[in-house]
Formats: sequence, C-alpha cells, structure tokens
Amino acid sequence: MELTMSISVKSVLERMRTEGYYLREQEELALGGLLSQTGGVRAMLIEGLPGAGKSALGEYLAKALNSQLLFLLFHAWSDSDELFTGVDVVAAVAGEAENARLPGILAHVAKASRDATPDKPVIVVLDEIDKTPERVENLLLDVLQTGRVPLKPGVHDTIVLDNVVFLITSNGMRPLSDALSRRLRRLYMKPLPAGKVIELVTGWLQTKEGFEKPELKGVVKVAYAVANDVANREGTFLSPQELSRLVEELVNLRLQDQLSCTRNVRYVVAGWAAKSAAKGIELTKNDRTMDGLWGLLKQTFPVK
Ligand SMILES: Nc1ncnc2c1ncn2[C@@H]1O[C@H](COP(=O)(O)OP(=O)(O)OP(=O)(O)O)[C@@H](O)[C@H]1O
Ligand SMILES: [Mg+2]
Repeated sequence: MELTMSISVKSVLERMRTEGYYLREQEELALGGLLSQTGGVRAMLIEGLPGAGKSALGEYLAKALNSQLLFLLFHAWSDSDELFTGVDVVAAVAGEAENARLPGILAHVAKASRDATPDKPVIVVLDEIDKTPERVENLLLDVLQTGRVPLKPGVHDTIVLDNVVFLITSNGMRPLSDALSRRLRRLYMKPLPAGKVIELVTGWLQTKEGFEKPELKGVVKVAYAVANDVANREGTFLSPQELSRLVEELVNLRLQDQLSCTRNVRYVVAGWAAKSAAKGIELTKNDRTMDGLWGLLKQTFPVK
C-alpha cells in the first residue's frame, strides 16, 4: 500500500528505522497522521502488551526529528505536582519561598514549546497513565484543550499546542475516561515478531562478558521457542525483557557450572516463562524441547 504522506513524514519514518526502531504499517500510519495533522492538539494514546515498544516510540521519534524529548513515568501517587508544579521540600523547610516551587513536566513543556516549531515539535511522553488515579486525566484533559498550565493561584503558563506532540501510553490496567480517550488518536501495538525479538535480545546480550559467541543468536532463538511455548500454554507470552533475563540466567549459570542437566534448564525456564511458579514446574515437566535447549547450551558454553 502506498502511503500519501509528505516527504518529511517519510523521511522521519525512515530515520526512525535507521536508528533501529522497527515500525509496522499501523505505526507508520499513526505517526504519519499525527505528524501531518494541522489544527487541534496532536496527541496519541498507545496501548499494547509489555515490550511492544510503547515507551521507546517517543524516544526514537524525537531522535528522528532531532526534537526535544520530555518524558514522565506516572506512578500510583502521581498528581498535579508532577504535571504542573512540585515543591522542593528542602527549600520549603529552609524558608526559601522563591526556590520552593519546582516546575512540573508541563511547565517544562510550555517553555520548550516556545522554541519548537510544528515541524520540529517537542515530543512529550506521558508513560503508563493507567497507573494514575482518574483525576490526573481530568487535569490533562484541560491542558490538551487549552494548553494552560497552572503554576500557582492566579498564574499560568501556556503551551504552544501546535509545537507539541503528546504520546500517552497505557498497559490497560484500567480503562481511561471517555472524555480523555476521545481526544486522543489511538494506536494498539502488536507484540514484536519473533525474528525481531530474537535480534533485539541477541543485541542486548552480545556485549556481556562471556556471551560474545557467534552461536548466541541460535541459543536465543531456541530459548524463545521453548519459553514461549510454555507461556502460550498458560495463555500468556514472553516479553523481550523476560527472554533476555532468561537467556542471561541460563548462560551465567552454565558458565558457573551450576546448570548441569535438563532439569536445571527446566527450572530456569519455568522461573521466567510461567506466570505462576507452581504451574511452571508442571508445564515444563516431560517437555522434550528442554533437552534440545540444554544440548545447545552445553555445546555453546562449555565449562572449562
Ligand atoms: N519496535 C521496536 N523497535 C526497536 N526496539 C524496540 C521496539 N519495541 C521495543 N523495543 C525495545 O524493547 C525494549 C522494550 O520496549 P519498551 O520499553 O518501549 O516496551 P513497552 O511497550 O513500553 O513495555 P512495558 O509495557 O513493559 O513498559 C526497549 O529496549 C526497546 O528499545
Ligand atoms: Mg513502557
């Protein structure tokens, strides 16, 4: 399918790819739409399973645009302090009224938006909004509509909305309010394909001492198949981060001569791939594929 995009969108997507971000058709369309939107706030809600690339998208987009990136990871206790103005407790206790107020992320956005342009917008990532209480959404809603950032009673700054792209991520722990989600373009990210996960994880591990073997990718590939099979039987899946930890543990234990038989491999796979520890032992029992993984580990990482 040929996308009717402006040259600049095409080149931004190309640069993201060059930087190493794997873009699927859905993401290309979503980003193309968002970047070429004129009028109205450019804001997108990104949902998807762990490790799908939700948090990383903004990082790569900012790099490709050569734009400023402002990132906030939400917590269950996130509130207007983090968004608008926080309090520097040390300065407040010392009675330094002038220094007691700290700008929250949206105060920084307001400032940065004045130096940005619509073609080189500030990228604002508000990560994991589903962790926050719903009132945070209402605060955000107002900002997305008006650009106004309250700083103290009677004083506010204003975000130049045309010069900003907001990316808001959610792991779907709770549904977002209708009012907020109706103001956001929505993107559901599918998990990365197997080949990409194997490539990513091999890349992460390759730099570690003892892991620099040409056969590492083969080990990651087999570990992915074995562990994913266990996870799938439990109705879940393995994130790239979990796979990386799993292979790291297998290799480290092997190099320390602690991984010495198929049963040990089973326990490690169960520890990462199964979501419940008890189920893991059951799911990996009599699993023939463990023998294959063990054989490969023994051959690739022989203990001297
Ligand atoms: N499409 C992708 N292209 C390149 N790297 C990716 C991609 N998706 C994920 N990654 C890499 O995988 C790792 C995990 O991605 P990220 O943290 O963005 O996932 P996430 O969807 O935010 O997961 P979580 O729900 O656990 O926060 C990061 O190191 C990221 O760079
Ligand atoms: Mg994330």
